[in-house]
Amino acid sequence: MYVCLCHAITDTQIKEAVSQGDASLADVKKRLGVGDQCGKCVKMASQIIQRQVDIE
Ligand code: FES
Repeated sequence: MYVCLCHAITDTQIKEAVSQGDASLADVKKRLGVGDQCGKCVKMASQIIQRQVDIE
């Protein structure tokens, strides 16, 4: 599903970023640009990142 509509970023892409070593919203923002426009996706993106970090 799309998490960040501004950049068409999916939850799968965010999870892959965590698998590749990203551990925070700042890391994923740097890699994919998530949350750097309207900011509406920040809360959901943070939850996905946290959940994935806990799993890995
Ligand atoms: Fe992610 Fe707008 S939806 S920055």
